[in-house]
Amino acid sequence: MKRIAVLTSGGDAPGMNAAIRAVVRTGIDRGWDVYGVHHGYKGLMTGDFHLLGARDVGGIIQLGGTVLGSARAPEFKTADGRREALRELNQRGIEALVVIGGNGSQTGAYELHQLGFPVVGIGSTIDNDLFGADITIGVDTALNIALEAIDRLKVTASSHQRAFLVETMGRNSGYLALMAGIAGGAEAVVLPEFKTEPELLADEIRQAYERGKAHAIIVVAEGASLDANELAHYFAEHEEKLGFSLRVTQLGHVQRGGMPGAFDRTLATRLGAKAVACLDAGDSGVIAVQRAGEITTVTHEDAVGKPKPLDAELYELARVLAK
Ligand code: F6P
Repeated sequence: MKRIAVLTSGGDAPGMNAAIRAVVRTGIDRGWDVYGVHHGYKGLMTGDFHLLGARDVGGIIQLGGTVLGSARAPEFKTADGRREALRELNQRGIEALVVIGGNGSQTGAYELHQLGFPVVGIGSTIDNDLFGADITIGVDTALNIALEAIDRLKVTASSHQRAFLVETMGRNSGYLALMAGIAGGAEAVVLPEFKTEPELLADEIRQAYERGKAHAIIVVAEGASLDANELAHYFAEHEEKLGFSLRVTQLGHVQRGGMPGAFDRTLATRLGAKAVACLDAGDSGVIAVQRAGEITTVTHEDAVGKPKPLDAELYELARVLAK
């Protein structure tokens, strides 16, 4: 192996820069040239490549986002798009690619692998929805940002005896909402994986009010079948059911933009090093992930597009702890 490239794709996640740095420096350590591809698959198709030295990735480990830039690139889903990408890679004599990203990005990586181009992925998404990975890059930081917001909302909620619907990101996964709800001491969580009846939710909040609670925090995952706006609409129409008056806060992209914490920096660094070790060993079609406390891999074939189940016991625990 002489020459590899690395890109970040999909939603940026805190820790992506630490992964880029690790790929570049462990690649250089092996005597390889490492190219950074700007703006994900978009840059792969248009030839936006830059040779990276060890100094180019200095001072980035603590930065959120991705210094390589990211993009959603629907064109890459077409056969023409992938052909363009392969042409750009081959023209530069690049022999393998590292793709840092979540489910959608790893689906693209799998396509390249199936076309015979060596690719290793690194599991990175705040959604924590990558099958085969216990926790992906960015989850811990995003969770801490959501928690800080919930802690602050509790202060103002208690002052006014209000309920807050707090919407977290996560796409179709309820992981962020569930864990933020448990760690934030929420009164209820509303998740895509479990059905919530608005009447029953209103009853629970009413009971919390009658038990003398000063506030009620309801953490709602953006992918829940009833999102925060729909629930707010329902509660506005049945205000008497709740006890508390209601406000809505959508955390949105705030959760993605933070500086990575120690957990994400070290996870990303170890996964970056693992991805390069995989390429060195001649592996392709695998994603570097953390599972059962180990830095290991899952194949693209096993991981992509597969729903990752949410722990029903944790959901039940969240309900019990809300008493
Ligand atoms: O996949 C990460 C994520 O932040 C999801 O939680 C969210 O649904 C989506 O990306 C938002 O995408 P965009 O940044 O393109 O609006």
